Amino acid sequence: MGEAHWEKVYLSKAADAVSWYRPHLELSLNLIVHVAGGSSAAILDIGGGASTLVDDLLDRGYQNLTVLDISPTALTAAKRRLGPVGDKVQWLTADVIRTSLPEHEYDVWHDRAVFHFLTAQEDRDKYVSQALYAVKRGGFVIVSTFGPEGPTRCSGLDVKRYDAESLHQQFGGRFRVVESTTELHETPFGTTQQFVYCCCKVE
Ligand SMILES: C[S@@+](CC[C@H](N)C(=O)[O-])C[C@H]1O[C@@H](n2cnc3c(N)ncnc32)[C@H](O)[C@@H]1O
Repeated sequence: MGEAHWEKVYLSKAADAVSWYRPHLELSLNLIVHVAGGSSAAILDIGGGASTLVDDLLDRGYQNLTVLDISPTALTAAKRRLGPVGDKVQWLTADVIRTSLPEHEYDVWHDRAVFHFLTAQEDRDKYVSQALYAVKRGGFVIVSTFGPEGPTRCSGLDVKRYDAESLHQQFGGRFRVVESTTELHETPFGTTQQFVYCCCKVE
């Protein structure tokens, strides 16, 4: 599902009123800090939307941040929230599986709740190729999706759910799992959703 769908979402709902919102993406942040190395690490947040992860990474001194999202409205909301400090971030309005990314540029690729929307194998294969192309050898890919007990749909779209093993299987032999975990995310409406996080080293 493309740009029109996500634009509609972000034009009709406040950034903190969507089911995936949380004030801070603590688990993502911890995993990134754990693997990123120094503050010059090049970090790419795939489908970062209007999340506060970029704020928290800036607060921790990371200087080489890129947020990619298919929705320009989501990125504008994040930029506006950050004010002038947002100028330090590279903002890319793009579809992760169709855009041209720089080769072996990033130390860390992070995705919370984007990969699970790829219900066609062909699209998942393209996604994995993009990650392999854009991430440095020895870099890290952190992907978080709904877990086996998570919802079957999000934002009106079907999703594919994974446990850590089946998520890793989507990526293949060049990705070595360094850490995986689950999280019970509490939505702004008081319901819970199971997420799985898988952090892999690209070899
Ligand atoms: C469920 S939201 C998660 C947002 C953010 N990662 C978070 O955890 O708060 C999914 C995000 O992915 C973006 N998105 C969906 N499909 C995409 C695609 N093919 N390429 C880039 N971004 C996409 C949407 O615009 C939306 O911001």
